[in-house]
Amino acid sequence: MIDADPTAPVVTIDGPTASGKGTIALKVARALGWHYLDSGSLYRLVALEVVRGGVDPADAGRLVAIARTLRPWFGDDGRIRLSRPQAGPAEAGHEDVTDAIRAEEVGQMASRIAVVPALRDALLALQHSFRQAPGLVADGRDMGTVVFPDAGLKVFLTASVESRAERRYKQLMEKGISTILEGLLLDLQQRDARDSQRATAPLKPAEGAFVLDSTRLDIDQTVRAVLDEAERRQVG
Ligand code: DC
Repeated sequence: MIDADPTAPVVTIDGPTASGKGTIALKVARALGWHYLDSGSLYRLVALEVVRGGVDPADAGRLVAIARTLRPWFGDDGRIRLSRPQAGPAEAGHEDVTDAIRAEEVGQMASRIAVVPALRDALLALQHSFRQAPGLVADGRDMGTVVFPDAGLKVFLTASVESRAERRYKQLMEKGISTILEGLLLDLQQRDARDSQRATAPLKPAEGAFVLDSTRLDIDQTVRAVLDEAERRQVG
């Protein structure tokens, strides 16, 4: 893991599930020419190992052990690979887990294990290591409140739960995955409740956050609003 560069500027984008943070954060990072951290993917990577290994999601010791041995590779091609140095010859090398960590079951498990404080602590250093020149755009739930409290711009991106469910529904349909809108809506509501009501690092706007409701904005308008605010706050 490389050391963080505490002088590199940071823009954080936090918000609920399916608020479009990932898409917006990546586009903002590209526009600024900065690095990008999808912190949710780290929780998803741990969750994938929990699901596959049949690990008890309340076993903090096991969760921390998984987080400590996690060797993710974030490719410029947008793919996420896991390095398995200790694996036997058959599994050695890198496994592309980009699609596997997006499964609904893994998302639900990520939300469940994310309530464990020891796991959150174990993932801190890894998240900090993404802070490198010329700058970082980080998305998640607690990027502005806990992980990068000194960020120059902290965005809280929301959208109504109905519009988020519809967006997720469209995305899944485009991928050929059939699903039920009502089920998705329920899933989002459950996850919102768990992410915002947990005791440790709950989802909430950071102090001084730029709260942006994207219910009536398209992707380009949302990206523009973030970039304008970054300019206004002279970030970077
Ligand atoms: O953003 P996402 O849906 O990929 O995140 C998956 C889960 O991980 C989410 O339900 C809560 C958790 N998470 C978190 O607790 N803190 C973060 N910074 C990012 C994600």
